[in-house]
Amino acid sequence: VKPSHPARFLVVGGAGRTGRRVVDRLRASGHQAVVASRRAGRVGEAFDLSTASPELPIFDGHDGYVVSVEPPTDPVGAEALLHHGVAAAATAAARRDVPIVVVSQIYLTRPGALPGMEDITRSRARGERAVRESGARYGIIRPGWLHDDPTPGARVEQGDTGDGRTSREMVADACVHILLHRGPFGVTFELFDDTSPVEWPTALRALVPDADPRPAT
Ligand SMILES: NC(=O)c1ccc[n+]([C@@H]2O[C@H](COP(=O)([O-])OP(=O)(O)OC[C@H]3O[C@@H](n4cnc5c(N)ncnc54)[C@H](OP(=O)(O)O)[C@@H]3O)[C@@H](O)[C@H]2O)c1
Repeated sequence: VKPSHPARFLVVGGAGRTGRRVVDRLRASGHQAVVASRRAGRVGEAFDLSTASPELPIFDGHDGYVVSVEPPTDPVGAEALLHHGVAAAATAAARRDVPIVVVSQIYLTRPGALPGMEDITRSRARGERAVRESGARYGIIRPGWLHDDPTPGARVEQGDTGDGRTSREMVADACVHILLHRGPFGVTFELFDDTSPVEWPTALRALVPDADPRPAT
């Protein structure tokens, strides 16, 4: 069933393996998806999140954003993308009052457990925090080790204690569900493969919202 009022979403990293699945799902649901990619032209709009600022026109005119970007291996580049770039997108979302869904990772709260990836993990944690503090309506999805194999289902967890594989299909499903069903927002959760199909409304409704990082006024 096509929606009577198609919405328009910006997918940063929409040419990537998870991002393109988000784009496919949004378009299959009758909505518009604008791909933001460092490669201009055929795939979408030319855009580098690591140098982005919230007032850029690319952030205008959308009903929500998805950010699914793979960082470079150097710490400076990872910080620019996963912290400052993600923070800019979240601020852009807050100023325009549109929701943002960010694909993150597990082990953010235990960076020492991933030797060799501490810099990326810490930058991503700073990016997550900036999203929570931005004032935007947000969802943060932390997949495990991504793959493209067929998977019967998925499982949602919170608290960043788990480990396991996660299908990119399931990550895309979760992103799109949050955007099209307008929530839940203010949540951070892990996502892992499981043997039974996931009931997204039930699984997501059961999530515990993040503590509000902004001090009460
Ligand atoms: N691999 C894993 O096991 C794993 C585990 C947990 C979480 N993750 C995270 O899950 C997300 C999805 O992963 P994936 O493997 O599906 O990604 P992917 O296929 O590697 O695609 C990532 C996308 O990031 C975009 N990107 C990189 N730098 C960018 C920049 N400066 N500005 C704008 N876009 C930029 C690239 O777009 P262009 O090249 O078109 O610019 C690319 O399409 C990523 O955040 C990844 O780090 C991965």
